[in-house]
Amino acid sequence: MSEPFIRVEHVKKYFDAGNKKCVKALDDVSLEVYRGEILGIVGESGCGKSTLGRCIMRLTDITEGKIIVDGKDIFSLNSKDMKEMRRKSQMVFQNPYSSFNPKHTIGRSLTEVAKLFGMTNEEAKADISNLLELISLDESVLSRRPGELSGGQLQRLAIARALITKPVFILADEPVSALDVSVQAQILNLIFDLKQQFDQTMMFISHDLPVVEHICDRIVVMYLGAIMEMGSTDDIFSDTRHPYTKALIASKPRSAPDEPVPVVELKGDLPNAMEMPEGCRFHTRCPHCIPGKCDAAAPLLKEVSPGHFCACYYRQEKNL
Ligand SMILES: Nc1ncnc2c1ncn2[C@@H]1O[C@H](COP(=O)(O)OP(=O)(O)OP(=O)(O)O)[C@@H](O)[C@H]1O
Ligand SMILES: [Mg+2]
Repeated sequence: MSEPFIRVEHVKKYFDAGNKKCVKALDDVSLEVYRGEILGIVGESGCGKSTLGRCIMRLTDITEGKIIVDGKDIFSLNSKDMKEMRRKSQMVFQNPYSSFNPKHTIGRSLTEVAKLFGMTNEEAKADISNLLELISLDESVLSRRPGELSGGQLQRLAIARALITKPVFILADEPVSALDVSVQAQILNLIFDLKQQFDQTMMFISHDLPVVEHICDRIVVMYLGAIMEMGSTDDIFSDTRHPYTKALIASKPRSAPDEPVPVVELKGDLPNAMEMPEGCRFHTRCPHCIPGKCDAAAPLLKEVSPGHFCACYYRQEKNL
């Protein structure tokens, strides 16, 4: 595999919740994003996906650990390196309507980014014209305002805007979850094209495992601030190890009414983030919980086959 562009090393991000309590949004998370790959981050609401993204983009500080981007620790950059990091790493957000200034035309919003990163008017014009072709939108969108465009069109434009600075890395946080299912497929295809054409490095955050299946090279499954399983998309879907990943896959929405209902169901609700269960954080909902073990100490993330990691005593004991 190629050199990692991003290295997240034992990162903790705790939020103070008052009353001497804290939310462990990230609790010792380590992972790599390799050049040219799309890494999917999945897990239920509140498991820390966006927090991980925000830490990687240095939009927030971290409690402990290190984040190395392109060989440099992002929390000790000088202002020149910081500007270069902002150019190299771009973001696409969930809601395309709130990611553009509603009062500005699309042309103005795109040109502003180009100029911020040192392009002349001519360069910006040529670049934007190429990008519009890439996202299959007509130049006429440049004179429109966000309110006059559809969510799908705006999300294409948000992707185009992210590409203006020729980033090495794009973080897409739930980029399709606010869109209609039919439009979701178009955006996913566009993202897939970027990877095919430009070898674009990306992190794709989603609560929906099936959404990431077709575009991601590797997938990280998170639960309450920690990684439960991580591996190639094929490992995750064809050699699923963690009971939580199994449950996520089984909860895949049925595409036809006569498709069988998923067999694995999770007991109970997601625990309160401020009261993390002792031991394995998933044990309170796990169908395979081993009393005295899973509720006593957290299992380590172990490599179960090359590049495939899982944190689960049941799997380790049964050697499944
Ligand atoms: N600024 C903050 N202050 C306090 N707690 C926060 C803050 N940001 C996030 N959290 C908490 O950290 C945990 C992780 O939140 P995060 O937004 O990263 O989850 P997520 O996986 O992105 O969820 P979703 O799928 O709903 O977007 C949650 O318990 C959340 O309430
Ligand atoms: Mg989120």
